[in-house]
Amino acid sequence: MSQAILSCRDVTMRFGGLVALDSFSLDVHAGEVVGLLGPNGSGKTTFFNVITGLYKPAGGSIRFGDADLFGRPPAEINHAGIARSFQRCRLLLELSVFDNLLLGAHNRLHNGLLRNLFARKATQRSITSFIGTARDLCARFNPYIADRLFEPAGSFNMIDRRRIELCRALLGEPRLLLLDEPSAGMTHEETFSLMDDVTSFQRQRPDLSIILIEHEMQVIERVSQRCVVLNFGKKICEGSYREVTNDVQVRKAYLGDDV
Ligand SMILES: Nc1ncnc2c1ncn2[C@@H]1O[C@H](COP(=O)(O)OP(=O)(O)OP(=O)(O)O)[C@@H](O)[C@H]1O
Ligand SMILES: [Mg+2]
Repeated sequence: MSQAILSCRDVTMRFGGLVALDSFSLDVHAGEVVGLLGPNGSGKTTFFNVITGLYKPAGGSIRFGDADLFGRPPAEINHAGIARSFQRCRLLLELSVFDNLLLGAHNRLHNGLLRNLFARKATQRSITSFIGTARDLCARFNPYIADRLFEPAGSFNMIDRRRIELCRALLGEPRLLLLDEPSAGMTHEETFSLMDDVTSFQRQRPDLSIILIEHEMQVIERVSQRCVVLNFGKKICEGSYREVTNDVQVRKAYLGDDV
């Protein structure tokens, strides 16, 4: 297999006495979809918060391509090519879809105040081109959104809000996309439909790697090539969907000792 695009070694994150991530190591290769599993409170979201720079880990190393991202600030990590969606919807519902997308596009539209003030034509051009890009991207997920780019995000149903969040993450053309429970708040069918959107997007961008946190096991089975299971911040299993779901430790972690 190709060299890993993301390489985390012995990453440890503590909150006081609680070890939320305990020497966790993970490699992700270009174009791979890795399912990150584990019971509630096992450290999955913490891992995303650590690699995106929201939390500063106590130890370990995080390499992304050639860059050392350990302890770097979120904007720099995003600029390096890592984008994410959140477990809970993070759209500003009163703002338009376009404004929400704009908020996620600071690494594309880094004009700066002075340039915006004095090079107005160039700023206008970059906004116009951004509108085109945003519209094209939204249309890939749902033409209905692309046609309503200037309507409030709150006027869309849950699956479209999730699509808008995905577009916001993808607008920066990341190389690694972190999806934290995209199914939250959606029906089974909506979740499958959203994941099909992601899969078809990835077919056009085969280098895009994805780490997917998801409790819906059928979603994991459908889209991930490899699964990693956390329990109490430790990796307890790694392998194909079939391997991890048949693993005794994993079954114990989810079901208790009655396995
Ligand atoms: N900011 C924080 N301060 C203190 N403890 C935290 C913080 N963030 C997470 N934790 C704790 O770290 C542990 C791991 O939490 P995390 O949110 O990563 O779990 P998770 O695997 O994402 O769970 P879920 O499936 O419920 O989303 C939990 O015990 C949680 O209470
Ligand atoms: Mg979580």
